[in-house]
Amino acid sequence: MRVMGIETSCDETAVAVYDGEQGLLSHRLHSQVSLHQPYGGVVPELASRDHVRRLLPLVREALKAGDSSPGDIDGVAYTAGPGLIGALLVGAGFARSLAFAWGKPAVAVHHLEGHLLAPLLEADPPAFPYLALLVSGGHTQLIDVEALSRYRILGETLDDAAGEAFDKTAQLLGLPYPGGPAIARLAEQGQSGAFIFPRPMLDRPGLEFSFSGLKTAALVALRGCAPDEGARADIARGFEEAVVDTLAEKTRRALLATGHRRVVVAGGVGANQRLRARLAAVASAAGARLYFPRAEFCTDNGAMIALAGCFRLSRGEQQGLAFGARAHWELTDLTVT
Ligand code: KG4
Ligand code: ZN
Repeated sequence: MRVMGIETSCDETAVAVYDGEQGLLSHRLHSQVSLHQPYGGVVPELASRDHVRRLLPLVREALKAGDSSPGDIDGVAYTAGPGLIGALLVGAGFARSLAFAWGKPAVAVHHLEGHLLAPLLEADPPAFPYLALLVSGGHTQLIDVEALSRYRILGETLDDAAGEAFDKTAQLLGLPYPGGPAIARLAEQGQSGAFIFPRPMLDRPGLEFSFSGLKTAALVALRGCAPDEGARADIARGFEEAVVDTLAEKTRRALLATGHRRVVVAGGVGANQRLRARLAAVASAAGARLYFPRAEFCTDNGAMIALAGCFRLSRGEQQGLAFGARAHWELTDLTVT
């Protein structure tokens, strides 16, 4: 089965062609980063309009690069949520129409299921069950991935997501959007231990996170020191280390609690090198193996949506002609017992 995947949940327009036997054939992405940069964050209406402009050319490019014609495509998968509702509706309406025009089935995909399954795009993928640390701009969750469509949330953030904390702290430090990669770059020049920020929730049992206080701690530190590049780099370093420590320690606890031998890191913050290195150490100490998608498949992409859609279409799932999108959609709603 060969599936086209379409992702438009936020500020990336992405299209991919995935083949159930041959794997990923092509993927194309247009990032709107420069469009939103002057505003310091994503402007939903601008995002929707840009998706409209970009989708068709990307579909043509992805088909060509994947050496496929519309006749070779067996189904179209699209992100139906969660995300920005206008942006989602552009992708859903476009994908549903494309499937109709091609006379092929369409299937709705949960964006976070795409992230969770992204490591399966790589060679030597993890088998089920596995523990997943899902860290994106909107979510921070530890998930027991028992099997496809069997997801159990073990713990999640009570306030800001890890990526959101990176983005907000970056803004305080005068760094461009998106903040995660910008903080990671600045932190390289900072000194470890110059600022020691709290490790939220580590003093309590359980697998919950809280990152909103960390951003405030960074602000207090910024106000109390010389406004030079060195101090900003030290704060970036201290902040990154606090987030990474917290995520790594809760992941260690979740590995112990579940006894899983495989752990996956997914979502945009999963592209963070310091986080990957720490998680690799945690996994190895627990006798587990760490899996992660290549950096470009940690952040939003069409390949993960095509892959998740391929699984669902192969199981006979498909949407009727009516389509919809959901700004809010719990991953556990997918769980079938
Ligand atoms: O998964 P994603 O592309 O979009 C959502 O579904 O949210 O994640 C985007 C988030 C942003 O908050 C961005 O700052 C963060 O991932 N991010 C990073 C890195 N690359 C992206 N955070 C820390 N370090 C990075 N290298
Ligand atoms: Zn995402």
